[in-house]
Amino acid sequence: MPDHKPVTPYSDTDVSKKGQVTRMFDKIAPYYDNLNRILSFGIDILWRRKAIKMLAKENPLTILDIATGTGDLAIEAARVIKPIKITGMDISANMLKIGNEKIVKKGLTDVINMEIGDSENLKYETASYDAVMAAFGVRNFENLEKGLSEMFRVLKPGGTLLVLEFSKPRYFPLKQLFNLYFKTFYPL
Ligand SMILES: C[S@@+](CC[C@H](N)C(=O)[O-])C[C@H]1O[C@@H](n2cnc3c(N)ncnc32)[C@H](O)[C@@H]1O
Repeated sequence: MPDHKPVTPYSDTDVSKKGQVTRMFDKIAPYYDNLNRILSFGIDILWRRKAIKMLAKENPLTILDIATGTGDLAIEAARVIKPIKITGMDISANMLKIGNEKIVKKGLTDVINMEIGDSENLKYETASYDAVMAAFGVRNFENLEKGLSEMFRVLKPGGTLLVLEFSKPRYFPLKQLFNLYFKTFYPL
């Protein structure tokens, strides 16, 4: 993996990327769902739906949702796959709080359990989940390799690892539109 400077939310602090990311999500938690809908023009819902449709083919009974945030991927998995257990794990207590409120409202507390934790140091046993998934989460990891290897460690042999993430378009005109959107509009 090439050496590069981590992209951090705040430039005026010496706090680690992890600390800054936690602070940022704790701060935006109450607005996160609405921001997501606006910034993606609602497409984020369709992306999660498509990812869960793919995962459903594997019929996992136990699922770990890494960087679950406000739980949208976990909730979609509970709705479509109907597994026995989903653990939603995140480093931001405020994101989890909002997620928990949604889970209670939807009557999914028997299936989804929201827990605080760090994806780069998972507290779960090796080979303990049928599926491990993350939506728009891995880009926030301070150490991507460590985070991905932890996800793999807790996955049962033959299980499914699902990562939903942006890619960078390489060709005109999508490449130019993507850069304009992410460098100008999105940071606001
Ligand atoms: C863009 S949000 C995605 C939330 C959710 N998966 C979704 O689809 O909306 C990224 C989440 O990653 C979490 N996160 C960032 N670094 C983390 C880490 N090291 N361990 C656990 N969660 C982390 C943040 O707190 C935030 O909730």
